[in-house]
Amino acid sequence: MTLDLFGSAHDDARDDTPQADAIGPGAWVLRGFAQSELPDLQADIDAVIAQAPLRHWLTPGGKRMSVAMTNCGEVGWISDRQGYRYGTHDPLSQRPWPSMPASFVALARRAAKAAGYRDFAPDACLINRYTRDARLTLHQDRDERELGAPIVSVSLGLPATFLWGGLQRGDRTHRIRLAPGDVVVWGGPSRLAYHGIASVEGSFDAQAVRYNLTFRQAR
Ligand code: SIN
Ligand code: FE2
Repeated sequence: MTLDLFGSAHDDARDDTPQADAIGPGAWVLRGFAQSELPDLQADIDAVIAQAPLRHWLTPGGKRMSVAMTNCGEVGWISDRQGYRYGTHDPLSQRPWPSMPASFVALARRAAKAAGYRDFAPDACLINRYTRDARLTLHQDRDERELGAPIVSVSLGLPATFLWGGLQRGDRTHRIRLAPGDVVVWGGPSRLAYHGIASVEGSFDAQAVRYNLTFRQAR
């Protein structure tokens, strides 16, 4: 079933994408948009992780997050007892975050454009790794200075159930299955929509994981 809450299936901005599901005003799931690039993206993810290893941040309340994270780009998203923020350096190594691979920047810009957002210039890419028991509770992406720019979110590896809500935490949430290669773009009136990951689909392969790249214009 295609979740198409907001219709307008023939928007000109999206003509170059195979299938785009509207999930809110200014919010789209671009199905399979990154499909052909998955092996290259994975190689670039591995190279970033070799420089800035995945780690489980603590929430400001002191809980270990189940999703393992790292960053590349000019700034990276950090969480610890002091709160959520963006920083230029990896607190583990005190070194600048690895630079954003050209393949990442090109994909993020292309996806943003396909969803109607021109001139997207991401300076932050959060890399999330989900094992089967990992979840990301409902939240807003609101630590970025530039809320006029969209969020571009790329799925790799195991499929997952994405929670897509409204502008209030208590709004009804929709469950959207994200497959590898799917790209979700949200901005404009949906920029501060609540979202999360309810679950990652199981696999008999204990090594199997899901990766997610989230591109932002953070500062
Ligand atoms: C996020 O909200 O930062 C990530 C969402 C996802 O993993 O798809
Ligand atoms: Fe998020």
